[in-house]
Amino acid sequence: MTELIPSITLNNDVRIPQVGFGTFQIAPDETQQAVESALEVGYRHIDTAAGYYNEAGVGAAIKAAGLPREDVFVTTKLRNGDQGYESTLAAFEASRAALDLDVVDLYLIHWPSPARGLYVETWRAFEKLLADGAVRAIGVSNFLPEHLATLLKSAEVVPAVNQIEIHPTFQNTATAAASRDAGIAVEAYSPLGRGADLGSEAVGDIALAHGVTPAQVVLRWHLQKGTIVIPKSNTPERIAANLDLLGLDLRAEEIARIDALESGNRLGADPATAEFSQMQ
Ligand SMILES: NC(=O)c1ccc[n+]([C@@H]2O[C@H](COP(=O)([O-])OP(=O)(O)OC[C@H]3O[C@@H](n4cnc5c(N)ncnc54)[C@H](OP(=O)(O)O)[C@@H]3O)[C@@H](O)[C@H]2O)c1
Repeated sequence: MTELIPSITLNNDVRIPQVGFGTFQIAPDETQQAVESALEVGYRHIDTAAGYYNEAGVGAAIKAAGLPREDVFVTTKLRNGDQGYESTLAAFEASRAALDLDVVDLYLIHWPSPARGLYVETWRAFEKLLADGAVRAIGVSNFLPEHLATLLKSAEVVPAVNQIEIHPTFQNTATAAASRDAGIAVEAYSPLGRGADLGSEAVGDIALAHGVTPAQVVLRWHLQKGTIVIPKSNTPERIAANLDLLGLDLRAEEIARIDALESGNRLGADPATAEFSQMQ
C-alpha cells in the first residue's frame, strides 16, 4: 500500500509520506475508529496535536492496526501554553505517553505565539529531544518569515517542516517561499480550504475533464508543487479518495488556473496575533 503514496525527503534525510491524515476536530472518542479506517485504506502518516486532545485515539489505532512501527509516520504538536524549555520537555513526555510510542516521527511547535516570546527557548528543548532520539524530526507550524528568521539566528537545527495554512484561495506564498529557501519542507494544513475551495468553477471544470473529484484536483495541485498535505475527513469514501492521487497529472495551464484562485481567504487564526493557550 505504501508505494501508492509519494514521499518527501526532509532536510535530515527522514522520509515523510506526502499525504497524511489530519485529525483536527475529530472527537477523542471517534479518533481511534477514524484513524483505523485511514490506516486500513493505506494512509501511513497521521497528523495530531496535544491541543486536539485525541493523541490517545491515534496511538490506540496504530496499536490496533498492528503495522510495523516504522511504517507509520506520526506528527504531534506542542500547545502554546506549554512553550518554554522545561515545560516543553514535560509536555512532550505527556504526548509520548498518550500516543503510547517510544519515538515520535515529527514534533512541531504548533504556533509561534510571538507575544509569549518563548519559541527560541522552546526550540532548544526540541533540539534536545532530537539529540536524545525521542523524535526523528523537529519542525514548526504557523511560523511567518519573521519568526523563521528569528529562530534561524540561534537554531542549531534547521526546522524540517513548516506546517501552514495553504489552499487555492489562500496560498501563503511568501511564507512557503521563505520556508523552502531555508531548506524547510512545506506542509499544507486545511489543504481543501476546509471544503470551501472545492466549489470553484475552475476546480470543477478540471475535475470533470479528468473524471476525478474536486478534492483530488486540489490535493494533486499541492502534490505537484512539492507540498505535503494532511486532508481531514470523517467520511469513509472521502478518506479513501483523498489518498488516491497518483493516476492524475495536472497540466501546467490547469495548475495556473488554480493558482489564479488566490484571494487572501485565510480561514484559520493569524499567526502574528494568535496567542490562545490550547489548554482545556
Ligand atoms: N497546524 C495548525 O495550526 C493546523 C490548523 C488547522 C488544521 N491542521 C491540520 O490540518 C488538517 C486538515 O485541515 P482541516 O481539517 O482544517 O481542513 P481540510 O482538510 O482542508 O478540510 C476538511 C473538511 O473538508 C471536508 N472534506 C474532506 N475531504 C473531502 C472530499 N473529498 N470532498 C469534499 N469534502 C471533503 C471534510 O468533511 P468531512 O469530514 O465531513 O468528510 C471537512 O469538513 C487538520 O485535521 C489538522 O490535522 C493544522
